[in-house]
Order: sequence, then structure tokens, then C-alpha cells
Amino acid sequence: MTTLNNGVVMPLLGLGVYDIYGRDAEQTVEWALEIGYRLFDTAAMYKNETPVGHALRHGGVARQEIFITTKVHNDDHGYDATLRAFDLSLARLGCDYIDLYLVHWPLTQTRQQTWKALETLYAQGKVRAVGVANYLLPFLTELATYANVVPAVNQIEFSPYLYLTDELRYCRQHQIQLQAYSPLIRGQRFDDPRLLTLARQYGRTPAQLLIRWALQHGVSAIPKSASRQRLAENFDVFDFSLSPESMARMDGLHENLRVVDDPTPML
Ligand SMILES: NC(=O)c1ccc[n+]([C@@H]2O[C@H](COP(=O)([O-])OP(=O)(O)OC[C@H]3O[C@@H](n4cnc5c(N)ncnc54)[C@H](OP(=O)(O)O)[C@@H]3O)[C@@H](O)[C@H]2O)c1
Repeated sequence: MTTLNNGVVMPLLGLGVYDIYGRDAEQTVEWALEIGYRLFDTAAMYKNETPVGHALRHGGVARQEIFITTKVHNDDHGYDATLRAFDLSLARLGCDYIDLYLVHWPLTQTRQQTWKALETLYAQGKVRAVGVANYLLPFLTELATYANVVPAVNQIEFSPYLYLTDELRYCRQHQIQLQAYSPLIRGQRFDDPRLLTLARQYGRTPAQLLIRWALQHGVSAIPKSASRQRLAENFDVFDFSLSPESMARMDGLHENLRVVDDPTPML
């Protein structure tokens, strides 16, 4: 668990549900609840808020034990449109409130007004925390010039292969919880011999090492899996720890590798 800058407690490890739809999304969330996941990361853009919400409501776990994140779709940026979009997300999820609402992408013309709408939703108590996604350092420093509320979370692509130390340092300094999306690099480096050697040393899988690496940096991680076995594997990371030497070796894997677009052109 981590305590956000407004006192709200959030699990550090969660499930990302990008690219899972309908009954598959329901089934995945049901399995995840059984395994112990309590943080769920969706977005209006993922088109699965309805099945995710349905599974969360019927999964036998009390609402207050579950932490739900969703995000403003790029098509809904702007003050009024964001307020409307929030209500629609809430209705699709079937909730009275959302735990964390994020600006999904820092669109050039509209990100400021969109943030102002999030501040309104926060002041109205409809969301327990507000944050941003894909805010690299220049976006964060710009946001600081007009924000009345410091974002609780910044969700960015982050892995040993994209070890963004400037963003990590800034977020720590400003009490913004960094959250790693695509923490498994969508599997693109599972065959890296350096990672495999370390994984063998710990008797763990590459996925488990990547998740553990994020958590030991104090970074939240939201790996996605739609397989029951891999959901369990990804959650089974709390009974070992990486040594400082292993952490340093993984830090050294940085190669600026992205699996999602670089947000920088939005500046
Ligand atoms: N804010 C944003 O702009 C943004 C952008 C991208 C992602 N995200 C969020 O971050 C979440 C995670 O990122 P992601 O989905 O891009 O990628 P990811 O979590 O890095 O990787 C997911 C891929 O890895 C596979 N996988 C999962 N666990 C595995 C394991 N233990 N062994 C082998 N393969 C495994 C999955 O396949 P199976 O399903 O078959 O297991 C899937 O193909 C998303 O679901 C979404 O919630 C946010």
C-alpha cells in the first residue's frame, strides 16, 4: 500500500485492463479479485468500464476495499466535456465514486481546462484523488504553474528499459506517486539474457523481476494479464526482494525503449 499526498491509501500493485473486452474483461477481474488484486486500472478509451464495473460489483469484495482508476478520453478534453465524461464513466462502472481519475494524455490545447475539471470533481467529492498520465517532466512543471491541487499520481510508461530518473525524482520531491504502465514492456524483453540470468538467480520469472523492480523503487505497477496463471504469477512478488546490486543491474538496462507513443510532441 502507499499513502497518496491527500491521505488516501492505494495498493501499489494493480491490474491494468487495456485490450480486454466484454465477458473476457469480467472473467479477468473475477480471477484478479480471487487472487487478491484490489487496484484496477481502466479508462474510457479501453471500452470496458461496463464489464469491469460489473465484475467488481459482483465479485464479493466490499467497494471500500477496491481502488478503481479511470481516465478522461482524449475526445472528452475541455472543462464541460470532462465533467460530462466523468458522469458517463461513473455510470458505466456502476459506482457512486471513483478512487482515482486521470487525464489520460496531455493534449496541447486542452490539458489545462481538463485539469480544472478534475479539480472541480475532486472538490465535489466525486473522486477521492485526481492525477495525470503521460506527464513527463516538462508537463509536470507546467501543471505546477496553474494547478490548485497537486496530482496524487502520475502514470507513465516506466520499466528498467525506460528508467525515467528525472520523473522519478520530481515525483518523489513533490509527493506525487509514480505509477508504471506497461511495466512488463508487453513482453518485449522477456528474452533478454541479462534479465533471464537474474531471474534464474532468484528462481523467479522475468515478469516477477520487472514488477519487483518497480515496487522497490516505490513505484506502483499495473501489469495487464488476461490469463489466470499469469495474473497469479504477477501478484506473487511479495515474498522476495532484489538486492541493491540486482536493482543497480536492472537500472543499467535503460535503453529509452517505449511500447507506447512518446507524449513529448504534445508540449
Ligand atoms: N495511461 C496510459 O496511457 C497507458 C498506456 C498503456 C497502458 N496503460 C495501463 O497499463 C496497463 C499495463 O500495460 P500494458 O497492457 O501496455 O502492458 P504490460 O502490462 O507491460 O504487458 C502486458 C502483456 O504481457 C503479457 N503478460 C502479462 N503477464 C505476463 C507474464 N507473467 N508472463 C508472460 N507474459 C505476460 C500479457 O499477455 P496475457 O494477457 O496473455 O497474459 C500482455 O500481452 C494497461 O493494461 C493499462 O491499464 C496505460
